[in-house]
Amino acid sequence: MTYEERYGEYQEAIEAYLDGLFTAQKPYSQLYEAIRYSILGGGKRIRPVLTLEFARLGGINWRLALPFACALELVHNYSLIHDDLPCMDDDDLRRGKPTTHKAYGETLAILAGDALQPEAFRLILEAPALSGEHKLDAMRVLLNACGADGMVAGQVLDTLCPIENTEQLRHMEELKTGCMIAAAAELGCAASGMNAGMRNLAVQYAKDLGLAFQIRDDMLDVEGDAAVFGKPIGSDKEEGKFTFVDALGIEGCRAEVARLTEEAKSVVRHWADSDFLVTLADKLAGRVH
Ligand code: IPE
Ligand code: IPE
Ligand code: MG
Ligand code: MG
Ligand code: MG
Repeated sequence: MTYEERYGEYQEAIEAYLDGLFTAQKPYSQLYEAIRYSILGGGKRIRPVLTLEFARLGGINWRLALPFACALELVHNYSLIHDDLPCMDDDDLRRGKPTTHKAYGETLAILAGDALQPEAFRLILEAPALSGEHKLDAMRVLLNACGADGMVAGQVLDTLCPIENTEQLRHMEELKTGCMIAAAAELGCAASGMNAGMRNLAVQYAKDLGLAFQIRDDMLDVEGDAAVFGKPIGSDKEEGKFTFVDALGIEGCRAEVARLTEEAKSVVRHWADSDFLVTLADKLAGRVH
């Protein structure tokens, strides 16, 4: 199976799973509408794809890991809805469309983000066909990644704390982006009960991938094409952010992304059947959206 075929198969399953959520008729239907606007809004699904691939490599039918994969994707979408708010990055465009607060107003955007957090943990709790032990493991992985010492800490450092050097920047980006990408991979390990040695390597691969991913995001905020990137260009500068482009320059960023990508690939290269992970790392290094 080619890389594209496998990615397409994962993506189709993720879209179908997410499309099945928040469909009931409610007197507060605008909440479900705002949530569905965000979660079905054309994300690349990199994180849940990682979960499914590590579940497959761990030896289970990857479809069983869909609730874990989509739980993390719900948290990711909450983080983006809140990240775009006027009090955070104040952005009007996401995935080529108005951001959730632009489409539904700030009140619903905040509440949609609020609701997505517990609903993510519900997906893990209620996952059919996975053991209680694996669910507890998954909950711990996700809550560590998105909690006060994870992604939220990264967002606090990014928005409220002065960042003055590359070391502080790396630490902030590891927290705001790296944690969630590493957790995505680890959720696949949790679903499949992967052994500790392989699981450590999976996390190492995803950490390298995650940092490269965020550096690439900083680059695209400068040299991207808004029509392709789907987000405004120059938003970081406008918000007065110190990014990897400020720290290393565009060419320095390109070199660092390449270095991290090679490091990620070297972690899994000797695994049987790691072609998908190797190609994924290369694709993300050169991504334009
Ligand atoms: C955006 O993540 C936020 C960052 C960490 C840079 P993605 O680029 O994965 O967002 P979607 O879900 O594909 O839109
Ligand atoms: C967002 O980082 C990371 C989280 C939402 C946790 P950015 O602020 O750089 O992401 P974009 O560029 O808005 O997608
Ligand atoms: Mg931000
Ligand atoms: Mg932002
Ligand atoms: Mg960005």
